[in-house]
Amino acid sequence: MHIPGGGCRKKSSSLKPTWKEITVDFIMRTKIHGLKFIFSSDKSKPQRVIWVLAFFVCISLLMTWSWNRIFYLMSYPAVTKIYMVWAHNMSFPAVTFCNKNVFRVSNLTKDDLYHSGYWMDLLYPNHTVMERSLSILKDSHKQGLLSLLDFKNYTPPPDYHVNTTEMMGRLSHQLEDMLLECRFRGETCTYKNFSTIYTRYGKCYTFNSGLDGNPLLTTLKGGTGNGLEIMLDIQQDEYLPVWGETDETSYEAGIKVQIHSQDEPPFIDQLGFGVPPGFQTFVSCQQQLLQYLPPPWGDCKSTPIDSEFFSTYSITACRIDCETRYLLENCNCRMVHMPGTSTVCTPEQYKDCADPALDFLVEKDNDYCVCQTPCNMTRYGKELSMVKIPSKASAKYLAKKFNKTEQYIGENILVLDIFFEALNYEKIEQKKAYEIAGLLGDIGGQMGLFIGASVLTILEIFDYLYEVFKDKVLGYFMRKKRPHSGTTATTKKLSAHP
Ligand SMILES: *[C@@H]1O[C@H](CO)[C@@H](O)[C@H](O)[C@H]1NC(C)=O
Ligand SMILES: *[C@@H]1O[C@H](CO)[C@@H](O)[C@H](O)[C@H]1NC(C)=O
Ligand SMILES: *[C@@H]1O[C@H](CO)[C@@H](O)[C@H](O)[C@H]1NC(C)=O
Ligand SMILES: *[C@@H]1O[C@H](CO)[C@@H](O)[C@H](O)[C@H]1NC(C)=O
Ligand SMILES: *[C@@H]1O[C@H](CO)[C@@H](O)[C@H](O)[C@H]1NC(C)=O
Ligand SMILES: *[C@@H]1O[C@H](CO)[C@@H](O)[C@H](O)[C@H]1NC(C)=O
Ligand SMILES: *[C@@H]1O[C@H](CO)[C@@H](O)[C@H](O)[C@H]1NC(C)=O
Repeated sequence: MHIPGGGCRKKSSSLKPTWKEITVDFIMRTKIHGLKFIFSSDKSKPQRVIWVLAFFVCISLLMTWSWNRIFYLMSYPAVTKIYMVWAHNMSFPAVTFCNKNVFRVSNLTKDDLYHSGYWMDLLYPNHTVMERSLSILKDSHKQGLLSLLDFKNYTPPPDYHVNTTEMMGRLSHQLEDMLLECRFRGETCTYKNFSTIYTRYGKCYTFNSGLDGNPLLTTLKGGTGNGLEIMLDIQQDEYLPVWGETDETSYEAGIKVQIHSQDEPPFIDQLGFGVPPGFQTFVSCQQQLLQYLPPPWGDCKSTPIDSEFFSTYSITACRIDCETRYLLENCNCRMVHMPGTSTVCTPEQYKDCADPALDFLVEKDNDYCVCQTPCNMTRYGKELSMVKIPSKASAKYLAKKFNKTEQYIGENILVLDIFFEALNYEKIEQKKAYEIAGLLGDIGGQMGLFIGASVLTILEIFDYLYEVFKDKVLGYFMRKKRPHSGTTATTKKLSAHP
């Protein structure tokens, strides 16, 4: 195809331009480099062929690369950034701890034993004592239990319903007895500064829970002196003797501790770490703020929590909520630590249904409780180290101070120090790696590189198409009205030219 150069434009300037004229005009004017040379009459045929080839290679490179960028945008790429933020002060986390033992032996009553002996693997369901348990008991020093286990002349009080919550609260280790010393940033604290919460380990205690109208505590420095230090007596003498092996049996002595944010309920049986007696344990924490992106970039949960028990979403809240629903469906009751107002399981229900069901859910069932990561999350990285307590030098002093034997001190006392390593936190943030602005920049760059065009060039093409459309469609109607106008003649003349 050969289109003559500028002469045509001048000739028809008095007439309405035809679409061919518009095209020629467009090709001469446009910023899409190369078009000019393809249609130029000054160039030889091979030159024009090379220009055509170069033009189409560039156009296809532009297309493929632009598609590539568009597909990249549609794949919603994300990058994760980690950086340190320094703070003037930081709010202290909530610290929850539980004694590994659920029931204190010395406070058991005949009623308790009669109704929950089966749960404790001490009795058969028909309230007779297991010989196996009895033989172990006879050898131990817990002689008091034996007299309680004699149900020969015992009839349970009429209308007696075991209140499992009340029983657990009464039989758990009481903080008044366990807490020997407590100190936060040098200020002494008492058992009143802790709030009570039930978990699978019975009654547990939370420091700095933010509940009961207490303001959140803050630290102003890193290091041991600016954290929490508690000394506990874990009361091993009160531990319930082990007389059989079940899934619930625990052989350990010590406490379980969880450091968590105040927005999250504790989930200490799964997420807690252990602290042994006979040691001072230093826990140096590093706060981490995690921010994930909702779908389609990430897979965090951006919708509000769908639960009747919790108001803020966290994995823990989701799991406790799910476990509660599972038990309500399967056993028609909830465990003491579960939220809600439905009836609490009796000790028999605990033994026959609730404990095995919950264990099954935790260990085997992977489909029922699927909890997504929340978009915002606070976690605490920990480093633990220990020293022995008491030392040979201090054993006598401590024994005297607490009026116990040296052996008791060595077996029961622990000190726990929780503090921030430094007054900074780590922010781990997922960010969108590629957005519309990036896409425009990339496509613009490719257009400039390959065909030397810009957004306005695209507008030029549209402008050209509009002109052609105007000429073709509107002109058609115009000609219909005035069939003898000069336009038709010019078109004929032009099309005859090549
Ligand atoms: C902690 O810092 C915030 C501002 O960053 C300030 O409002 C608050 O009073 C500080 N708290 C303490 C105990 O210094
Ligand atoms: C539990 O036992 C201790 C000592 O054995 C006693 O001081 C305390 O009053 C008892 N508590 C209850 C609730 O019976
Ligand atoms: C109670 O049950 C156990 C085993 O289930 C049985 O050995 C024992 O004889 C029963 N005792 C009574 C008094 O029924
Ligand atoms: C069980 O005891 C708890 C606290 O001791 C009390 O709040 C609750 O109302 C009691 N439940 C029943 C059914 O009596
Ligand atoms: C403990 O509680 C008392 C009053 O309930 C309060 O005055 C004190 O500041 C608290 N101590 C700490 C370390 O929170
Ligand atoms: C997460 O935290 C950021 C600021 O820290 C806030 O802007 C955003 O709304 C929070 N997102 C959710 C889902 O809570
Ligand atoms: C020390 O404990 C023993 C029993 O363990 C008790 O008899 C004695 O009164 C206690 N002494 C003091 C000073 O509390």
